[in-house]
Amino acid sequence: MNSKSLCALAGALGLALFTTLAAAEDAAAGGGLSYDDKLKACGACHGDNGDKPLAPDYPKLAGQHADYLTQALKNYRDGRRTHPIMSMQVKALNLTDEDMVKLGQHYAGLPAAVQTLTQ
Ligand code: HEC
Repeated sequence: MNSKSLCALAGALGLALFTTLAAAEDAAAGGGLSYDDKLKACGACHGDNGDKPLAPDYPKLAGQHADYLTQALKNYRDGRRTHPIMSMQVKALNLTDEDMVKLGQHYAGLPAAVQTLTQ
């Protein structure tokens, strides 16, 4: 990892932590985390439309299959897929099964930022 992506990573973690802490305060105050709050947190790293990740090694979500995205989130939650950043997000944001389905459908419905290579 070069210093540029390290900076991006530090920035993302800071932003995500800030978002999470602010949300945790809301939750403590009885507000809870809305689906929109969670969606906003995802945008900090993956881009608001899921197509402009913060660092080149962060995946683009826009246009991926809904069931693939939902399954990836469940796998992070259940420990079948692990990644220090993403596994933490799923826990910190307290994603429910319903959130995971909605998030998968949301990003799948956005203009694709991934393409099939010509063979
Ligand atoms: C702090 C940065 C950060 C935040 C916030 C974040 N992600 Fe991620 N996400 C990552 C990184 C880094 C990866 C790559 C992890 C890996 O290689 O397994 C990733 C991977 C994923 C994947 C797997 C994609 C694939 O192509 O396999 C999905 C799905 C995903 N994130 C969805 C979300 C959703 C939904 C949210 C909000 C609830 C979110 N992420 C919030 C950094 C973040």
